This record gives sequence, structure tokens and C-alpha cells, in this order.
Amino acid sequence: MCGIIGYIGDKQAQPILLNCLGRLEYRGYDSCGVAVSSSGIEVYKDAVRVEALGKALPQFSGTVGIGHTRWATHGGPSQVNAHPHLDCHGTIAVVHNGIINNFRELKRQLINEGHNFVSETDSEVIPHLIEKYYHGNLEEAVEAAVRDIEGSYAMIVLRAGESRLIAARKDCPLIVGIGDRENFIASDVPAILGYTNRVIYLEEGDIGVATPDGIKIRRDGIEVDREEHKILWSIEEAQKAGYEHFMLKEIHEQPKVIRDTLGEYTRVAEPVVDDLAVMRAVGIESMLMLACGTSYHAALIGKYVVEELLGIPVRAEIASEFNYYGQTLAGTAAIVITQSGETADTLRAIRRLKGVGCRVVAITNVVGSTASRIANQTIYTRAGPEISVAATKSFMAQLMVLYWLAMSYSKADSRRLASLLMGLRQLPSKVQQVLDDEDKILECAKFLSRYEDVFFIGRGINFPVALEGALKLKEISYIHAEGYASGELKHGPFALLGGDTPVIAIVARDNTYEAILTNIKEVKARGSPVMALAEEGDEAIGELADLVITVPRVDTVFSPVVNVVALQLLAYYTAKQRGCPIDFPRNLAKSVTVE
Ligand code: AGP
Repeated sequence: MCGIIGYIGDKQAQPILLNCLGRLEYRGYDSCGVAVSSSGIEVYKDAVRVEALGKALPQFSGTVGIGHTRWATHGGPSQVNAHPHLDCHGTIAVVHNGIINNFRELKRQLINEGHNFVSETDSEVIPHLIEKYYHGNLEEAVEAAVRDIEGSYAMIVLRAGESRLIAARKDCPLIVGIGDRENFIASDVPAILGYTNRVIYLEEGDIGVATPDGIKIRRDGIEVDREEHKILWSIEEAQKAGYEHFMLKEIHEQPKVIRDTLGEYTRVAEPVVDDLAVMRAVGIESMLMLACGTSYHAALIGKYVVEELLGIPVRAEIASEFNYYGQTLAGTAAIVITQSGETADTLRAIRRLKGVGCRVVAITNVVGSTASRIANQTIYTRAGPEISVAATKSFMAQLMVLYWLAMSYSKADSRRLASLLMGLRQLPSKVQQVLDDEDKILECAKFLSRYEDVFFIGRGINFPVALEGALKLKEISYIHAEGYASGELKHGPFALLGGDTPVIAIVARDNTYEAILTNIKEVKARGSPVMALAEEGDEAIGELADLVITVPRVDTVFSPVVNVVALQLLAYYTAKQRGCPIDFPRNLAKSVTVE
């Protein structure tokens, strides 16, 4: 998720582009750049924040230009990988947001046709494709180029000497801002709100042509009209897309994050993790997963999934503990999970593992992060930048990578695999169902917000979900919450139960069902109110629990996906009820870079 901007009008473009880019940094901030056209195109870009770029930028003159702030997906943050990207002659400049899935094939073809590439990015194929199809009409060249592209894109194209900008979108947002003798094209409303609040939303497949005096939109070669909207949001509200907090926005982004992450990997026949393939070929006996915080909870769920589908023992360890005592067995495949890629404890574990000859695969959300540079192999989650300190969508993307990995190397029979693949593909709509059914969660949050101590219990693959539910509630609502394997309560925590200590039970319809119903009865008998998270159609649970949050039915292996979204919302609305600073809770940092 990058931020792109285009300006065409009667004012100098450069300062306007920088201003708009500054407001798009919530979409990505690892590098940025601008291109301004007068007779030729001048480009300046670097792996810096927009403010620093503004200070270093030479004065370009011109009233038409484009800009980009990046969230790297292909090729680490660097000056050469930053946008805008140019064609061979430097006459066509492009800024792009999205992922081009077939860029490797396109790049090979274009190189065979004599094009020179300078970056590692997927986006650089666009100006070269446009150059290939340019025969005097820029719009037609863009239409031809996008026909070759598989994947998602929002792009703005600038050609030297032309007083117009071409925009195109597919699966990524793109808007037009209507001004007085000037027009804007941008990824999102916050960028342009300082200049105009008259906005047109481009639709899937639209090609827009912006000039200082207007905007023309075509779809499949036919001119179309699009409704103009008046935006009443403040810039901050717009950055949150109308949600009150980044956390709620990021929770609601999860269906798209699941599609983006799975879209990236399920497309290729043979998964690209040759380290794992090699290890399995040489008879890998065990796997070690290491992480911290929420990422550790993803590792714990990964343990259940890999053990079930690959039939090999998996150790899921807390990195900060592993660094002081952990042993590694020869032939251990090591996977480390880290959203930021900068968590000190996890980085130390990577170095320690490599130090004893282990090959390490890192699962991370940040391209170019330290973890991605020191691990032997990296698998990127496609959650986009996560602003809220409490990890939500990044956790979901981590689960998708772990499911895909386990299914790619699974020993399960083809029927089981086929039903799992079907289940995986249905997850975005199942998660959407949970998101659309917030009312019950709101009621439960009101109930929960008046307590100071809470237990979450779960069994099997949902034990880590209990840990994650407790962590989310702790982090943002400041309620003391503990996640527990529900069979463990009777070995001590029972002493804490009573009317002031509610218990949230995650009830999956699997081989642990009867056991957890028994645990709920035991908890009730000790006076604790019980809130149950249960599958739709589970009549029995309503008789037992005081409050029930219902989630859609999925295969047990996928139950953490729907359950964790419900618990994220529960934590969010409980914290809101208590008036907590949800996105930036006290004493916490988004990336913990100290041990
Ligand atoms: C989760 O909401 C927290 N932000 C924290 O526990 C986090 O998961 C942990 O610090 C690990 O971060 P990482 O995934 O970036 O390594």
C-alpha cells in the first residue's frame, strides 16, 4: 500500500506534490519521490521520508507532476527502487500502488525486446510497457499496457511535453480532486483535502485523463460519467477512511489483506520457499518457530497447523527466552515471525540460529527490514503499513502465510487438501461476516468494560487465540487479562474466579468441544460470568454462557481466523468504552528495538 499523487494546473507542482505526499505517509513511508514536467521530465527520489526529500529536492519548475510515497513490496527501500520509474528514454514517468503478479514474465519479455531495467521493483515494467505501446497517443498506450498486467494497480502516468496526466486503477483506490483551473489524482482523499473537497472516485477499469481544465474518464474505450462527491471529513478522519481509529480501520482491512497475501502465493505452482523444500527433501525432522508478542501467538497457531498437516514436531518459542537457553537440533527448519522485522529479541534469535548453522526463513511485513536482510529467505505478508500499535491485520497475514506453507508441504490426502483450499478461499467472506455482525460484540464490550480482571480460555488450536485475545485487551483497554489453556484453570487460577472475574471461553466444534463445555460449567460454579465465542448454530452454548458471540462455521484449522477478529473487535470496543488512547497505548511501541 503506497501513496500516489498527481497535480496538473496553473501553479508550480513541486510544493503541492510534497504537501500531498506528506498526508499520504500513513500508506507507506520507506522512500519517496517526485517527477515534474516542463519541456523534459525531472525526477528526484530517495529512501527518505517526505520531509527530508523536501529539504534535499532541487527546485523543479513545471505545473504538472507526479509523486509517490512507498511501502516496499518488491525490492527493498532504496533510491533506485523508489518511484517514479522511467522508461528507457526518460520521457515517460510512472508512480504505482499495487502488486503486479506477472512482472517477472513481463520484465523478461521487455528485456528480450531491448528494454533496460534499473530497479528490483515490479512497478518498473509499467513505463516500459507504455513505451512499447506508445505510437503518439499516451492514453491508448496506457490502455494497451494495462491489458498485459495481472495483479492490482493504481497508477499515474506523465509524459514529457504533454500537459495531461493519465490515471488507471484496478483493485486499488484512486480518486480525482476537482479544483479551479487545476486537478489532482490521488490514492486517497487526505492527500488533496487541503486544496479541494470535490472528489470523483475512479471505478475498476477506469482510465482518467486529467488536464488543467477538466477530467475525462473512459472505460473499455467508451467515455463514462462518474459522480462528484463533496467530502466533509477532516484530513485526520480521512486518513482513517472515516474510522475513528487506525486499529478499527485495520481490523476492517483484513478480508482484503487475506486476499492480497494469499493472492501473492497461491498463484505460483511451486511455492518459492526452496529452503523448506530442501529441508523436507533431506528429511527434516522438526521445525522451530520463533517470535515475540502477537507474532508468537501466530507461531503457536502455526505449530498446530504444521503438526497436523506435515506430521512433524514443531516447537514454538518466545524469542527473548530462546536467546538465553534455547537449543537447536541439526536439520531443524527455523521460521521467525516478525511484523516490523526490527524486533531486537527476534533479530538476535535469527543471528543465534544462523550462528549454529540453521537456515532461517523470516515471515515479515516490512520489505527491506533487518530481519529480511539477515534471514536466509524471506516470505512477505501483504498487510500493508500497520499504524496502530496493536497488531491485527499483520497477525492475520501471518496466519495466511503459515496456512499456505503448511498446505504447500502437507502430507494430507488430496480430498482433505482440496477442502482446505476451498476453506482458505472462503476466509475473506467469513471474516466479513464477523465484521458485519458487530452489535453483539458491542453489547459484550459494554459488559466487559466494567471489570479489571478477565480470563480467556481455549483448547487446542484456539488456546493461542485465548492468549491473543487477552493480549489485545491488555494492550488497549488496560484491563488485566490472562489467556489460559482451559484445562489449566483448575490447577490454580480457579482461586481467582468469582463475580468480579469474567471468563471468555472460545468454543470450537472440534474434539475439544465437550471438554470446554465442562470447563465452562466449572467456571460458572465458581461464580464467574461467562462470555462464549461459539460457532453459528450451537444451541447448547446459549444455555450455559451469560453472553454469546457467534462466529461463522469454518474448518477447525481456520477457526482462529474468525475467532481472533471477534476478539480484536471486543478489545477495541471495550477500550473505547473505557476512553483509552486506542492507537497509541501507554508504555508500548509499534516496534520493540531494544532487548
Ligand atoms: C502486538 O499487538 C504488539 N504490538 C506486540 O506484542 C508485537 O506483536 C511484538 O512486539 C512483536 O512485534 P513484531 O511482530 O514486529 O516482531
